[in-house]
Amino acid sequence: MLIFNQGKYKSLLAAKAGELDAVAAQVATDQDFRPDYHLVAPFGLINDPNGLVFDGEKYHIFYQWYPYGAMHGMKHWLHYTTPDFQQFTLADTLIPTEMFESHGCYSGGALPLGDCIAAFYTGNTRRSSDNTRIPYQNIAVFSNDGKLLDKYPLVTCSPAGYSEHVRDPKPYFTQDGKVRFICGAQRDNLSGTAIVFEMENINTPPQLLGELQLSDFDNQDIFMWECPDLLKIGNKDLFIWSPQGKKRETQQFQNNYHSTYVVGKLNDLQFEVEQFGELDYGFDFYAPQTFAGLDNSESAVMIGWIGLPDLQYPSDEYAWHSALTMPRRLSLKNNRIYQTPLAQYYPQNLTALSLQHTTTLADLDRRYLKFNPHNADFSLRLFDNPQGQHLTISYENGEFCLDRSASEQTESMLSLGEQRYCVIADLQQVEIFIDRSVIEIFLNDGEKALTSRFFIKNRQNMLQSSCRLEIESAVLAPIEYR
Ligand code: FRU
Repeated sequence: MLIFNQGKYKSLLAAKAGELDAVAAQVATDQDFRPDYHLVAPFGLINDPNGLVFDGEKYHIFYQWYPYGAMHGMKHWLHYTTPDFQQFTLADTLIPTEMFESHGCYSGGALPLGDCIAAFYTGNTRRSSDNTRIPYQNIAVFSNDGKLLDKYPLVTCSPAGYSEHVRDPKPYFTQDGKVRFICGAQRDNLSGTAIVFEMENINTPPQLLGELQLSDFDNQDIFMWECPDLLKIGNKDLFIWSPQGKKRETQQFQNNYHSTYVVGKLNDLQFEVEQFGELDYGFDFYAPQTFAGLDNSESAVMIGWIGLPDLQYPSDEYAWHSALTMPRRLSLKNNRIYQTPLAQYYPQNLTALSLQHTTTLADLDRRYLKFNPHNADFSLRLFDNPQGQHLTISYENGEFCLDRSASEQTESMLSLGEQRYCVIADLQQVEIFIDRSVIEIFLNDGEKALTSRFFIKNRQNMLQSSCRLEIESAVLAPIEYR
């Protein structure tokens, strides 16, 4: 076992006495922004959800984690299990300890295997002579009760024809019981793609089968595909992934990087695309993954990262960064993905409030709000503080808008614009989940979703609307960590 400790490539095992307590103490000074019912790291940075798998009794949720502060450094997989998404029990962390993961345990997925789970991940390594990145694809085997049993490399370099950017293996079973895994990749000509490997079982060497072929997708400008995920809902196949390089637009693809999906029919590696779409229209959403091990006859369950590469947030000064979305049920209507939080996240006993002009509502920053605008234009302003900061959502001429221009922002946030839009016809339902600095919005039963961070200190429990809105609402309960 090696203890890596080179600049930001510092493993958890290299922590000096008291060092992590100091980071945790810094987190505890944050009185404003730490979410209550969204999964956050105890300290340090979260990015992608990883290894999402249901083992028959519990859900395993891992995520990319850098323990020492709000920056991207040596990546570990922090690991929780939960039977109900209410109580989260800490299980064994995947810590880089071998040469085949010397510069971080990068993203990947997992499969249920009897009383174990097999987590596939990228071992990020760099050659010491010239710092060249060499991506390994590895397996870590965990018992269902969350103990790390073994880990070993499967693939020890990028295949010929691909650059150093090959990563994020997501495994799945074929109909004849073999194991395949799909990796995000960059071709030598610097275009993005995904490649598929096949193994008889997790102890046999993988064979490269080739690239996933999408019958219809404009790959122009796209230099890398990250976090690929193949799944089924009913009799449809879906491919979810995070392409990088797509040009930004005004009412969709508004961020630096995007998470997209196609629905259609998969025949071996040929994907007949019937529908293409973007998953989320908010400021902060990336690298989602779906759970393996669930019955996906009607729906699937997905978690995303409430964050984006290369962004700094005002809460970074408290030594924590980002959160995961609530798990979302994905279903298909007219070949499009609809997303709603799992039923257990919906509060019971909603109270009604007739809102006109200005009203206060206790604990607004931990509330679920629901209303029907009856397809009429409206604007709703939340949290006005003495400094004049607030958050605004509005609907005008068939366009929904989330505006955070009157709240605290960093330069990197500002560089990507201050409003997020989505086009939605006939708006009959708005659902808002607020969790201190996180907001998840679902329109028309999940037809469109917008996930974002926002930063307002000294928030007041104030709501101001441009017209009468009949709001139903409740305060959400915090999740418990064990
Ligand atoms: C996506 C990503 C993955 C990579 C991981 C590293 O956000 O860049 O492609 O495996 O993050 O933390």
